[in-house]
Amino acid sequence: MRGVVSYKTLLIILVLFTATGTALASKPTAHGQLSSDLFTDSTKCAQCHAIIHNQWEGTMHYNAYEDPFYQKEFMVASNDTAGIVDIFCSRCHTPIGVVSGEIPPKDGSQLSDIARQGVQCDFCHVISDSNGTGNAPFVVSPGNTKWGPFDNSKSAYHGSEYLELYTNSEYCGMCHDVIHPINGLVIDDTYTVWKEGAYAKEGVMCQDCHMTPGITKFEANPGRAGSSAQKREHISTHDIVGGNAFVTKILGEEKYSKMAVERLEKAATLNIDAPEIAQRGDNVSVNISITNSGAGHKIPTGVSEIRQMWLAVSVKDRNGKEVYNTGQIDDSGTIVNARKVYNTILGDAQEQPTLSFWLAESVLEDNRIPPKGTVSEKHTFKIPADVAYPLALEATLKYRSAPQDTIDHLFGDNVYEVPVINMTRASSSIYENEGEAMATPSTPGIAALGSITLFLCAAYCISRRKI
Ligand code: HEC
Ligand code: HEC
Ligand code: HEC
Ligand code: HEC
Ligand code: HEC
Repeated sequence: MRGVVSYKTLLIILVLFTATGTALASKPTAHGQLSSDLFTDSTKCAQCHAIIHNQWEGTMHYNAYEDPFYQKEFMVASNDTAGIVDIFCSRCHTPIGVVSGEIPPKDGSQLSDIARQGVQCDFCHVISDSNGTGNAPFVVSPGNTKWGPFDNSKSAYHGSEYLELYTNSEYCGMCHDVIHPINGLVIDDTYTVWKEGAYAKEGVMCQDCHMTPGITKFEANPGRAGSSAQKREHISTHDIVGGNAFVTKILGEEKYSKMAVERLEKAATLNIDAPEIAQRGDNVSVNISITNSGAGHKIPTGVSEIRQMWLAVSVKDRNGKEVYNTGQIDDSGTIVNARKVYNTILGDAQEQPTLSFWLAESVLEDNRIPPKGTVSEKHTFKIPADVAYPLALEATLKYRSAPQDTIDHLFGDNVYEVPVINMTRASSSIYENEGEAMATPSTPGIAALGSITLFLCAAYCISRRKI
């Protein structure tokens, strides 16, 4: 049973949307809206900005409207709320569709091709001002002038204007913070967490990780921003990716799916604190810590009630026999026995967990890992009597864009398999006794110590024999 929205709530929402809708349009037409004809098709920009266009085409910005996962969820949200959220959701996923009044209707039947281009060139570059962050408070002035990061840019085709906003996280923060329009519940806090975290203090912007080849830090990308433009020390890259290796794959955007995996692989580090020696029958406790070493916000972030991150921990003996195993995925796609799934759990009006964030009224749990933060998990297992030493302990941090059953429920069983990404791994060994531990070359420190001990022992034995 989905929640039912009261008549009073409906009214408040309508008032809210009318208000924000009017504030948005800085150059209204006679009907109070901007015609989508005022925006330029991205293929036009490609004539001179070919590299940038090539980078943007196929990203989740390009696919923000056509994204099949979004489409399904949008329909459910619209049905759950009697259409109240139609404009709300669309404001970020097809901003031109909203400012031009082509949505509603929600089925997209009135949408121009340009509005279907999602978050596209000429929308992003006619943002001439913003009324803060969260819930898309952009001000757009479509026309000849393109706003951007350069204060000395000239183009024969269009006017250029510098706006500092483009070089700051506040630009991204317009859409990358989502607040429930009725009850004020923070649903996506990517920008806010960045703002309150270590990266903001160091002046590291979203652009420094997401619009450079650096992934976790700024890396210059020298070149030209357009044909016959001057050479510059840095041109920002527009292949803006996050962790979405799933929908990019569904859409056949293999390049961006791979880039998402690479990004996930750089987001975190693992550390294992385990005893080196333990006996058969012992209860062994192991601490595994996860550090968010690469992301400027929590991991995961965004629609973090849908994303999942967890640790898979396995212990096997020398013959591959399983001693301990948690966090694997079973045949139905369920995560088995993970100590924790790192994400947010939203609660509906009955305080029951819900993935439908439009129905959420509270955050029941948030155990995501803050920027530069560390959390740790304790795993305990008993060493059976019949193991063959040494034991191999392996921890893998895993990520997937959505629970498998959510996708099965929306698209049908066996339609899409949500890929499970291995973000990072760590391993260690447990031995029966010191001699075995010392003889193992895989831990150089111990091996070195071992040879010293052996040497001392040999010297001692020899001296003893002499006596
Ligand atoms: C999500 C919004 C967004 C989209 C979509 C987008 N841009 Fe940008 N663009 C930016 C931002 C932000 C910057 C400045 C980044 C910085 O310098 O820190 C920028 C910079 C630029 C620049 C200056 C040169 C550079 O890369 O530093 C040009 C030219 C440009 N964009 C053209 C385009 C074109 C053409 C498209 C479509 C193919 C496009 N942009 C799509 C946000 C966007
Ligand atoms: C006829 C070629 C041409 C076309 C078409 C074109 N541009 Fe440009 N654009 C340029 C050149 C050249 C520059 C200067 C680059 C520089 O200063 O390094 C430029 C600069 C820019 C800048 C940087 C402005 C600043 O002050 O930071 C943005 C943003 C931009 N273009 C966006 C677009 C968008 C969006 C489109 C499509 C609607 C587009 N351009 C179409 C040639 C073109
Ligand atoms: C006009 C609104 C808007 C602006 C401005 C905007 N984004 Fe986005 N962005 C979106 C939407 C909507 C999506 C999600 C599309 C989807 O998944 O269906 C998205 C997706 C992304 C993703 C992919 C997430 C994933 O899971 O892979 C990243 C990364 C991202 N944006 C970063 C940025 C950065 C960095 C900036 C600033 C330079 C920015 N965005 C500006 C609306 C915006
Ligand atoms: C220090 C580098 C860094 C900074 C700064 C940074 N990011 Fe990220 N971002 C990452 C990495 C690494 C990932 C992959 C891990 C993940 O998906 O959580 C990521 C993932 C994302 C995702 C996808 C999250 C998911 O799990 O679905 C979005 C959206 C995003 N970033 C937006 C932003 C925005 C907006 C900002 C600025 C407010 C920003 N990022 C600042 C490095 C950074
Ligand atoms: C203020 C901007 C904003 C609003 C409003 C908004 N979204 Fe989004 N949406 C985003 C951004 C940014 C992302 C990407 C975050 C990430 O990748 O984790 C996103 C991602 C999503 C995703 C995940 C898509 C994927 O491919 O994994 C779904 C589903 C979604 N939104 C549905 C909705 C629905 C339904 C609504 C309305 C109830 C809505 N959104 C309203 C900005 C917004």
